[in-house]
Amino acid sequence: MNNFRLVVLDYAKKQVHDPTVGKILNDIIVTKQINFERANSDYVALDKHDMIGTHYLIYDIGNLFQPRLVAGIRSTYRERAQRHQIQTPILDLLPQLPTKCQIAYREFTLAYPLTADCGSLVVNNSYSFKNTGIKLIDICYTMVYLHITRMGYTNILGCTNERFRSSRWLENIGSYAGGLEFVHPMVADPHLLIMIEKFNVPFIKSVCAENEFLFRSMQEFVPEEAGYINIQSTVDAFLSDKANMKVNLKLVS
Ligand SMILES: CC(C)(COP(=O)(O)OP(=O)(O)OC[C@H]1O[C@@H](n2cnc3c(N)ncnc32)[C@H](O)[C@@H]1OP(=O)(O)O)[C@@H](O)C(=O)NCCC(=O)NCCS
Repeated sequence: MNNFRLVVLDYAKKQVHDPTVGKILNDIIVTKQINFERANSDYVALDKHDMIGTHYLIYDIGNLFQPRLVAGIRSTYRERAQRHQIQTPILDLLPQLPTKCQIAYREFTLAYPLTADCGSLVVNNSYSFKNTGIKLIDICYTMVYLHITRMGYTNILGCTNERFRSSRWLENIGSYAGGLEFVHPMVADPHLLIMIEKFNVPFIKSVCAENEFLFRSMQEFVPEEAGYINIQSTVDAFLSDKANMKVNLKLVS
């Protein structure tokens, strides 16, 4: 684990002149394209949300001269999507989903309007849980939790590919209604629509505490004008429980 480093890249479009951001974007595009071909060889992983969403990334820096992106996930937001005249991934998919998923989505987002759409999960095959026993995806979701809550968001949703049994990674993250299965129109595997109603904060905190070094050394790339507290203070507050995060939170689009 000492060879890993965590990186948050938020709203790349606003930081695209930074050469490091360009390098990270390149890593994301290439790593996702290579690994999503495991799900569907015709699938194109790159999409506009890569520029306006938030990426949560795990790098292996064992080779100092060639840091390697080994896992990642992304969250996207309805408000940002509207600003850039696109849909969130779930809204794009919704018309093609069974009625029960459509109804559940509408009810959920009425109750929890500040829900981030979380997806594009990838783990490099050589670092997969099956091959290494390392739970990189727990770390990814913990990063998601820390970031979306500092933005003022309260919930997440996502679609899991059940060929990889991806829903198992959300079982500890929070509570959700089951049974919202569907076959994805582009990746013809059974999927589940999962909408986290209440986060399992003790579990998330245990992941953060077990990997304290990684979380405390997390590097963030956020737009200059971002109003949320920095990631180190966010981790401090979360781990220490001393600060009341609600006081510090500021809703930022
Ligand atoms: C989904 C993913 C992130 C899961 O990470 P992980 O749990 O570390 O991955 P694993 O390689 O251990 O795969 C999980 C399961 O899928 C199986 N699997 C992996 N690649 C597979 C493939 N190409 N075809 C069929 N099954 C596959 C594994 O055997 C494992 O099954 P098991 O747990 O029953 O033994 C990772 O498999 C991935 O990056 N997939 C491609 C990208 C993708 O489709 N993302 C969307 C996910 S919702």
